Amino acid sequence: MNNAVMKNIKQLIEKYNRPGPRYTSYPPVPYWNQTPPTEEQWIGHLLAKYREEEGVDLYVHVPYCEKLCYYCGCNRTITRNHDLEDPYLDVVISEWNLYKTRLGFTPKINSLHFGGGTPTFLAPQNLKKLILALTENKRDNFIGSIEIDPRTCQVEHLKVLKELGITRVSLGIQDFDPKVQAAINRDQSVKMVEALMDQLRHYKFQSINFDLIYGLPKQTMESISSTMEIVAKLKPDLIAFYGYAHLPGKIKNQRLINENDLPSAEERRNLYENGKIILQQYGYEDVGMDHFALPGSYLYEAKSSGNLHRNFMGYVEKKSSLLIGLGPTSISDSSMSFVQNAKEIKSYEDRIKEGKLAIETGHAHSPEDLVVQELIIDLMCKGEVKIGNKNNLPHYQQIEKELLAFQDDGILQYKDDKIILSETGKGFVRNVAMIFDFHLREQSNKARFSQTI
Ligand SMILES: C[S@@+](CC[C@H](N)C(=O)[O-])C[C@H]1O[C@@H](n2cnc3c(N)ncnc32)[C@H](O)[C@@H]1O
Ligand code: SF4
Repeated sequence: MNNAVMKNIKQLIEKYNRPGPRYTSYPPVPYWNQTPPTEEQWIGHLLAKYREEEGVDLYVHVPYCEKLCYYCGCNRTITRNHDLEDPYLDVVISEWNLYKTRLGFTPKINSLHFGGGTPTFLAPQNLKKLILALTENKRDNFIGSIEIDPRTCQVEHLKVLKELGITRVSLGIQDFDPKVQAAINRDQSVKMVEALMDQLRHYKFQSINFDLIYGLPKQTMESISSTMEIVAKLKPDLIAFYGYAHLPGKIKNQRLINENDLPSAEERRNLYENGKIILQQYGYEDVGMDHFALPGSYLYEAKSSGNLHRNFMGYVEKKSSLLIGLGPTSISDSSMSFVQNAKEIKSYEDRIKEGKLAIETGHAHSPEDLVVQELIIDLMCKGEVKIGNKNNLPHYQQIEKELLAFQDDGILQYKDDKIILSETGKGFVRNVAMIFDFHLREQSNKARFSQTI
């Protein structure tokens, strides 16, 4: 990058770096209207949108991890007590049985994704029991995926996953540098990951993603370069390269990170750009915010064919109408409304044991929500969007002024109602999305979000 461009980016970062949502949903969770549909209404929404030929997507949250990573912003409980597994499994299966009873049939399962916490906290046989209970009626082209912590994954897990059609895996890597690993309390040798990659290839898993993070304590340009060189040799087909979301006021465990070890906003951006350049040299292409893919991978193909979509789990290869989330904190999406389960494991379990769904909060979409949702998803998946009927877009006049200001800063091109992000502008996509977010604009009580850059 030449000096003029670097200077310009530095100024843009100073101007635009501020707290903002990551938009895995619109509206973002803090701006839901908190009046969840009743259980009856929620089931009504699912029935209204269910199509046998499409089926439903299932998400299962496994809320346990054996060891705390200091940076972690996920919802999880740290424990080494594996006696918790059996009762947890029973409750999740009961929750699914409640859904089947309320719907009056067993839905076709289009996809099943395990997230967490750490799904591989569960013993292989328990994982097997859970998958079998949830996939008795799966579609022919069923997609199964799971988040794997290399430190807790055994060959037996891989055998069960492969046998039952869970063929897409995402490995929590974060960073390979020993100093960074020490600062985040996550020891994970290259050797361990190499051995796991050999096993994954031996069992012919279809897709392997690495989760990496930039902006972690002790990261330097050199450490990011060497992590990326190792990553490129291991050659996963997908890479999520997330910006570290540091919110120590809200997430207590992040107070264990020494803030003097954190890079500045400008350094963060340089770490990201450095990582991105190396990935591109090895053939990875930028498919969406913080996501890279090798040609031939399913996200690369989805991006090329214009089908890339974004939901609570990040980028996916197609839009689907129904997502049912099982387990504490899990979010469900009926395309008409969102609901989220109770966050505390005990409250969640108590509700299910009483024979009720564990819905704690939610949001019923207004017509304006749906318009803005589509705009933001397009912007994040395609890097461009056409504004349709402006009458349906709250605060349009103000939005137009802000778009022109972004255009003056070289972040986007705005012509004939079409917005196209520039190469530089891709790094500011959250800021551009924010101008459409009328909930954010109208709230005096600002929620706590991570920095956009
Ligand atoms: C549920 S974890 C992945 C599975 C497993 N628990 C593990 O860590 O290996 C999901 C991912 O969220 C990302 N993550 C967690 N906390 C984060 C934070 N504060 N900022 C950015 N990314 C974060 C990490 O990359 C992590 O791999
Ligand atoms: S990053 Fe993964 S393993 Fe670490 S605490 Fe969070 S959920 Fe658990």
